[in-house]
Formats: sequence, C-alpha cells, structure tokens
Amino acid sequence: MRVLSGIQPTGKPHLGNYLGAIVNYVKLQEEALAAGGECFIFLADLHAISQTHDPAELTQNTREMVATLVACGVDPAKTILFNQAQVPAHAELQWLLNGTARMGWLNRMTQWKDKAGKNREGQSIALFTYPVLQAADVLLYQATHVPVGEDQKQHLELARDIAQKFNSDFCPEDAPLFTLPEPYIPPAAARIMSLRDGSVKMSKSDPSEMSRINLTDDADTVMKKVKKAKTDPEPLPSDEKGLANRPEALNLITIYCALTGKSTADVLSEYGGQGFGNFKPVLGDALVETLQPINARFMELKDDQEALDAILARGAAQARERGIPTLNAAYKALGLVRG
Ligand code: TYM
Repeated sequence: MRVLSGIQPTGKPHLGNYLGAIVNYVKLQEEALAAGGECFIFLADLHAISQTHDPAELTQNTREMVATLVACGVDPAKTILFNQAQVPAHAELQWLLNGTARMGWLNRMTQWKDKAGKNREGQSIALFTYPVLQAADVLLYQATHVPVGEDQKQHLELARDIAQKFNSDFCPEDAPLFTLPEPYIPPAAARIMSLRDGSVKMSKSDPSEMSRINLTDDADTVMKKVKKAKTDPEPLPSDEKGLANRPEALNLITIYCALTGKSTADVLSEYGGQGFGNFKPVLGDALVETLQPINARFMELKDDQEALDAILARGAAQARERGIPTLNAAYKALGLVRG
C-alpha cells in the first residue's frame, strides 16, 4: 500500500481541502503504516508556478502549508512530507512522460478548460501540461491509493492512461513499470461548495473570503461566515429527497455530517422542519470544535521556520531516495543512455 497526495501551496487551505482530502491523508497514513506500506504527502509548489504568482508569497505559503498539514495530523514521523521543488525526479519524470501523453488527452481536461477560459493562447505551457506533472508525482512512487476530492478524479484517470500507454509501448507484457493508481475519494464530502453559491466549489481562488472557511480562521470568523452563508427561505426538509434542487442546504448538511460522522437521514430527522436560524449555530459549533485544535497547533508551529524547513528537508531526502528505482527504470525503458 503506497499512499500519495499533493496540495498546492497557493492561498490558505480551506474546509474543502480538509474534508475532501486532508482528513484522508491522516486516515491513510495510519492504514499504510499498519499494512507495512508508506505514505507520501507533498506540497505541489511546481504546480503553483503554472499561474501568475508572487514568489515571496509562494515561499511563505509553502511553510504555512506544512504547518497546517502537521496541525491537521499529518505526522512527519509517519508520512514522507516534502515539497516537489526539492525532488528533481518529479520534473524529470514529467519530461519522460511528455513523450507518452497526447495533446488530445490534455485538451479534454476540465481544469484546463475552466482555468484557461476563452484565453487559451495566453496561458502558460505549464498550465496545459500540469496533469502530466501530476501523473509523474503519482507514478514516480508507484502509488496505489491517492486521497483527493472529486475535482482531481479526471487528472488521476489521465495518470492511469499515461501509465497504461507507457507500460504497453515500452515494457514487456509481464513486467509493466508503472502501477495504476486508484483515487480515494470520500463518499460524502467529495465536493464542498462555496458558502456564497451552492453551485460552485469552495476554492482558494474565489475572490470572496466569505465563500470559504479557512482552516486558520478563528472561532468568531467561523461563526460569522456560517451565519452569513447563503441559504433559501424554506425550513430544512425531513428527508433526503427534500434536499433536491437546494444546493446551499445540501452543502451545509454535507459539511455537518462530515464533521460529526452523523448520517444525512439522522441529521434531517433531528432538524427537519426547523429554520437555518436554528441549524447554523449548531453547524458553527461543530466547525469550531474541529478547527480550534488545528488552529491552536498551527499558531504554535507557523513561525518556527527552521523546524518547518527541517521537516521538508528530511522528507525530500527520503522522497529522492524512494523515487530513484522508478526514474532509472523509466530512462532505461525509453532507451536513454546515461553512462
Ligand atoms: P488543490 O491544492 O487544489 O487541492 C488539494 C486537495 O483538496 C481537494 N479539494 C476539495 N475537496 C472537496 N471539496 C472542495 N471544494 C475541494 N477543493 C479542493 C482537492 O481535490 C485535492 O485533493 N492538482 C492538485 C495537487 C496535486 C496532486 C498531485 C494531488 C498535484 N499533484 C498528485 C494528488 C496527486 C491540486 O491542485 O489540489
């Protein structure tokens, strides 16, 4: 069992990142350990330069993201925690896989279409080839389980397509090089939506701070954002069918269920018929209960630059070592002579 996932150190991590992915990093780090496997979690800083960015902010966000992940329970003693920029094999393997990935495959990626919009010609090449770097991230370590939110599913399918084509083009049938990775997507919280609009996902890049709950928000800010969250005027329904076509209500219930481990049916039988005025404070309390310890730990860690850099340096040394066999085998399979 090899668990691997990445998160971009752009902006502040939010509740969608937490419920969609980070909770499962922590869960699978324990499962990997118990199964005698390994867990790799990295900051996708090379991905972060695919769009306009401020270099000083990227440096600071990278350290803050390490502090946040550790505060959430990613344990550097159990997980290989690092940033891509310190492990050149990611960029090297991407180049090798660029020979296998097809333009048509990348053109179909919804993230590329969404981010590029009508201005494809003006985008960086890195934004277009972003999914190939993501495939390299996963395939370099022969990952089996990749904990992600729903929005990354297509990129993982592409990683599988690239792996399959490389295996069939360059490897003997009985000795494929790359393991096909499986996405590990939470059944309920796969897609947490914006608090301002239930039809778009909660995102670091949404211009409205009120659209998301950051993991580092204090209790007052969390309460304020929940109270201001968009809802419709109807009371909560008593069963799941009643959530159809009510995206904001569905989102708040989904968040509450993910935080408390309760089922939608149980929550609706408890709060059905009540207005959001009653439900929002309950949701706010559940959020504060989850986020307060994370926040406190983050505050302790965030300014200790030396300790954060040491975590990354140690993780990168381990990752560099783990990646060597697959990278060497990929060069060899392609017939590249390396002395
Ligand atoms: P990123 O940084 O956008 O998001 C990190 C993780 O959070 C999940 N996520 C969400 N889940 C539920 N609801 C939401 N609103 C929400 N928003 C984000 C994402 O699905 C992701 O799991 N390309 C990736 C980083 C990456 C990666 C990888 C992931 C690079 N290489 C290899 C896995 C394997 C990204 O930009 O995630």
